[in-house]
Amino acid sequence: MDGALPGLDMDPTQAQAPAGGWFHSLSLPGGETTAGVKPAEVLRTEAEVVFKHPVAGKRVLDIGAWDGFFAFEAERRGAAEVLATDHFCWSGEGWGTKAGFDYAHRRLGSRVMSLDIDVPQIAPETTGVHDVVLFLGVLYHVKDPLQALERAASVAGELLVVETCTALDVLPWPTMRYYEGRELGDDPTNFWAPNRRCLAAMARDLGFKRIEMTGHPVTKPHWRAPELYWKHNRVFMHAWR
Ligand SMILES: C[S@@+](CC[C@H](N)C(=O)[O-])C[C@H]1O[C@@H](n2cnc3c(N)ncnc32)[C@H](O)[C@@H]1O
Repeated sequence: MDGALPGLDMDPTQAQAPAGGWFHSLSLPGGETTAGVKPAEVLRTEAEVVFKHPVAGKRVLDIGAWDGFFAFEAERRGAAEVLATDHFCWSGEGWGTKAGFDYAHRRLGSRVMSLDIDVPQIAPETTGVHDVVLFLGVLYHVKDPLQALERAASVAGELLVVETCTALDVLPWPTMRYYEGRELGDDPTNFWAPNRRCLAAMARDLGFKRIEMTGHPVTKPHWRAPELYWKHNRVFMHAWR
């Protein structure tokens, strides 16, 4: 990663497992597994798509890392350097804390770095520029998705990987759908789902030349609430400079 990292969070040595439960199901040394909301099998399947273009030797940034599955997986797959960031779920204002990430980090003996920073503050000056930026499961949570994508893009030197809900994929125009209240996934923090054309159009406008879309391998049935997900799909976008 290029650039300064003021406020880099250091790895606590006395980390405890999170009292509020896990989001990611992680395999830790000694056969310990964490009972996350997101099953290990789904994470393994997602990782095959996220990392279909290898990250070995790359500098990787994972935005919205939460318990850190994708950051630790990038490290396991040979990334030269990994930085995990989050704020909503690390600051205590969201659904969790950073306890899970810190605990897994210690148990794995990981060298992944971490920084508590919210998406609007992500910029070359705050996180540095990385070869590969992961922006997974975050876009539909933000009130201004184009601005959020612009922040993620600003620190992606080579490849940006986005995973998001999509809607209205049948429409021939770049379109984004707004979800009122708890309509999307029974979660009031879900606001927007672009269609694939919109996602690709935003990426092109942010300077990405080559775009690859991969349907989510386990959208139906969805890992969380199959009955609620008939109204939209999920997609992975790999976008290269
Ligand atoms: C569904 S989790 C995805 C976690 C992980 N990236 C994955 O794909 O498994 C959503 C992530 O987005 C973050 N998030 C939620 N709302 C946010 C917001 N308004 N702004 C920035 N990040 C947000 C959360 O902290 C959390 O890490």
